[in-house]
Amino acid sequence: MPDDAPHSFDIVILGAGSGGYACALRAVQLGKSVAMIEKAKVGGTCLHEGCIPTKALLHAADVAHVAREGDSIGVHTSFDGVDMVKVNAYKQGVIDRLYKGLQGLVKSGGITVVEGEGKLVDAKTVEVDGQRYTGTNVVLATGSEPRTLGIEIGGRVMTSDQALKLEEVPKRAVIIGGSVIGVEFASVWNSFGAEVTIIEALPTLVPLEDPVLSKGLERAFRKRKIAFKTGVKFTGVEQNDNGAVVTLENGDTIETDVVLVAVGRGPRSAGMGFEEAGITVERGWVPTDERLRTNVDGVYAVGDLVPGLQLAHRGFAHGIFVAEEIAGLNPRPIVDINIPRVTYCEPELASVGLTEAQAKEKHGEVQTVEYNLGGNGKSQILQTAGVVKVVREKDGPIVGVHMLGSRMGEQIGEATLWVGWEAYPDDVAEFIHAHPTQNESLGEAALALAGKPLHSHA
Ligand code: NAI
Repeated sequence: MPDDAPHSFDIVILGAGSGGYACALRAVQLGKSVAMIEKAKVGGTCLHEGCIPTKALLHAADVAHVAREGDSIGVHTSFDGVDMVKVNAYKQGVIDRLYKGLQGLVKSGGITVVEGEGKLVDAKTVEVDGQRYTGTNVVLATGSEPRTLGIEIGGRVMTSDQALKLEEVPKRAVIIGGSVIGVEFASVWNSFGAEVTIIEALPTLVPLEDPVLSKGLERAFRKRKIAFKTGVKFTGVEQNDNGAVVTLENGDTIETDVVLVAVGRGPRSAGMGFEEAGITVERGWVPTDERLRTNVDGVYAVGDLVPGLQLAHRGFAHGIFVAEEIAGLNPRPIVDINIPRVTYCEPELASVGLTEAQAKEKHGEVQTVEYNLGGNGKSQILQTAGVVKVVREKDGPIVGVHMLGSRMGEQIGEATLWVGWEAYPDDVAEFIHAHPTQNESLGEAALALAGKPLHSHA
């Protein structure tokens, strides 16, 4: 295209992460012309600095764990250490293959990818390196980035961005923040042989989860010798050539080799011209209505930029929604509470819907069941402890499912259907769950909640 040609499209998307590229792929399927602007790489945080690389590390951590534990069940194995350069090459190989596939999809879909930093100049126009791209609709999909609470990042002090690229396993690590990123890295580094301490300001690890999961995870982490201090904030970090010292508000200090700051992710919107274009921005976030419309006609926002759960699959769902909305298909709004949440530490956490406390607040009286994985054959085989907790409205549908245990992340699909379809325990208890599987624990919990427990007490 000559430089002075008008670059006009049905949709201009700012950001090519999970939300942006899903919107682009669906929009071209629906016959729309699309330009997608990206300053880094198509695939965004999830593919390059988030979900995919961390889960590759967690898989390597599982292998280390299995190597260490093999002898306990009679298989002679030994753990001889971790070569992070090779682990990183494996991780990068996974990313590269997915990246290549994604680039192929984007290209064959006829999406115009513009490389560079985009800025909104008005509600219909994005400027990149002096070129203007105009869309009948504009979709903001610029995502999020690690928050640092004013801590200077560099050297031994890092966010997940740097922690993913470490070339050796730290001997000691302090993790500030005991939520999703904190417990996933704790799990990896502990399995790789590091001494890990987590600092969490709130009273429990994974404080947003139902307390049955927080307590169960704390028990499992204690067993794994992952140290944690809850209900205490950190106040400072100092580092030199030999190490770093983290100071807590109660005066305690902890010496360490690396410090991971995992205190949340904030919206990426500064300096992008959103407010100048008339778009409401609240503390960096772009609020939308349930149809993902911003306050400005024709401008939508998707993914982490929109207040709510920060999850790649929410971004995908938002992107698809907006493409279908623009094409006039009148899709059903995405409801955050029906979005599954999985934390891939060992043991895994998986939940969807309301916690017991949230359900009580919303529905008044509720009924719950906690099925202990101790009674599950596959859990015994895998030597994992955990629980499935199911919450229903009194004599009503299931409104929340909360799971802890090895491989329980893979069980979230069924739980998502229960909650999304507002299923009754009696309905789902009729479906037969294969024995012996971790999945069977969902069947057992449903049976118990329907008043006819098999291997547990109601
Ligand atoms: P988060 O917002 O989930 O948790 C941050 C934690 O840091 C909170 O528990 C908070 O109480 C604690 N904290 C804040 N200030 C503190 C202080 N001064 N001292 C000690 N603790 C302090 O953020 P996180 O874990 O960094 O994750 C960011 C986002 O990325 C989340 O929304 C998460 O859902 C998402 N994510 C999702 C994954 C998954 O789905 N498996 C994996 C990784 C991230």
